Amino acid sequence: TDRITSICCIGAGYVGGPTCAVIAAKCPEIRITVVDRDPDRISAWNSDSLPVYEPGLDALVKRQRNTNLTFSTDIDRAIDQAQLIFIAVNTPPMPHTHGSSSMGAKPDLSAVSECARRIARVSLTDKIVVAKSTVPCGACATIAGMLRDNGQKGVGFSVLSNPEFLSEGTAVRDLLHPDRVLIGGDDRVAQDKLKAVYMHWVPEPRILTMNTWSSELAKLASNAMLAQRVSSINSISAVCEAVGADIAEVARGCGSDERIGQKFLRPSLGFGGSCFHKDIASLIWLSESLGLPEVAEYWHQVLALNRFQIKRFVARILADTSREGGLSGLGGRRVACLGFAFKEGTGDTRNTPAADVCCELLRNGAKLSIYDPRVPRHHIVDKLAMSAASNCDIDSVSVCSDAYSAIAGSDIVVVLTAWSEFRQIDWEQALKLMSQPAYVFDGQVVLDHGRLEQLGFNVFSIGRAHVTTQ
Ligand code: NAI
Repeated sequence: TDRITSICCIGAGYVGGPTCAVIAAKCPEIRITVVDRDPDRISAWNSDSLPVYEPGLDALVKRQRNTNLTFSTDIDRAIDQAQLIFIAVNTPPMPHTHGSSSMGAKPDLSAVSECARRIARVSLTDKIVVAKSTVPCGACATIAGMLRDNGQKGVGFSVLSNPEFLSEGTAVRDLLHPDRVLIGGDDRVAQDKLKAVYMHWVPEPRILTMNTWSSELAKLASNAMLAQRVSSINSISAVCEAVGADIAEVARGCGSDERIGQKFLRPSLGFGGSCFHKDIASLIWLSESLGLPEVAEYWHQVLALNRFQIKRFVARILADTSREGGLSGLGGRRVACLGFAFKEGTGDTRNTPAADVCCELLRNGAKLSIYDPRVPRHHIVDKLAMSAASNCDIDSVSVCSDAYSAIAGSDIVVVLTAWSEFRQIDWEQALKLMSQPAYVFDGQVVLDHGRLEQLGFNVFSIGRAHVTTQ
């Protein structure tokens, strides 16, 4: 009864799938069942093409599936058989209440609550319930209350907070070599049991036990601080463009200070993905509800700066390209959009800045040819069609299967995701495929701008003073 040998994970998404694959690989004596209410997701995990793209994940899942890792829709059975249950379901922000000007948003915990009620109803033996989903402070206490109120007589529950710090695109590496694992709770025995699972591959000093509130808040604060770094370097990128500075040099100049560090100082179109927006909004909401409007306002600026970056990128495209030929806006111009995922290394498009840029370009009359190496065509179309509620013209969009077909016949190339393969494009060839004069707007600072200028492109890159004049 001491060691955990049976785990259930509810939620087979970006977090649940990779996390359990790694636990299964590192803990051969533990049987793990990942369950989800979405049967399509489960059959995809059981198929040849997994629902989540992560480097290294395919091999890992395919190996463990034959041994101690199972994907199933039978949630009740998996709960019943497990000693420890991870809750890794989604916790999206609640829609904004009408008329509220706050950027804060309470996360929607209905999926987490549903899991808690189900665990209470189904469990006939004691369970350790682990909140892996990012939840606002106090959520673990709420889960514990629900389990207590709805559980079978004589069945005991321990609730732990164990937030996940993996990044999409490097999930497997992050899970194999975490900087730290947090285990929040007030039941020492349960904490030690979860710790023993991680100790199969994580050095003990990296496993930090703490109280539940600290663990929940550390997750929100970590994401808020990472997002803040993105907004900080992006704010400086705008200053660079206005003077003669080059953001790459400034970032090197700052980052060489050990106290600052080089990581996460790349200027861009801003952060995206499912977590940063949601978790900052959650922190803002928490601060407001605790009567701390100054704190809320502080974090609000990180979100505001993120939107500013997209706005000024599009404004730059309009300003630079409508000088020619007397065309107003982008009417009739074809723009090749390279990249659509919210960052390189993933096919995820949740909150991708690329979609915002595309919508703005469409609204200004452009026609778009979009290419992303990992995002399926229908995701791009669906995403833009959804934003089309704000009247962008989805008929002006074509999705291409390689960079050259997107570039062919375009006037303007914009780089929207920092995929390294865009550096390998033969730009001399690309120039021949484009209308002249040809423009490149590098929203991710990934291309060799000097070389592009030599070839005859008009180049603009975030964070560099505008050098080319036609
Ligand atoms: P996801 O949307 O990819 O996966 C969640 C899964 O839970 C879905 O497949 C959904 O069908 C399932 N689900 C929802 N309600 C359910 C229920 N009542 N019963 C059974 N299954 C249910 O979400 P993702 O990205 O894996 O995120 C999960 C949590 O982890 C969120 O709280 C997120 O904030 C957090 N997180 C996400 C990270 C990321 O990079 N995506 C990183 C760290 C934390």
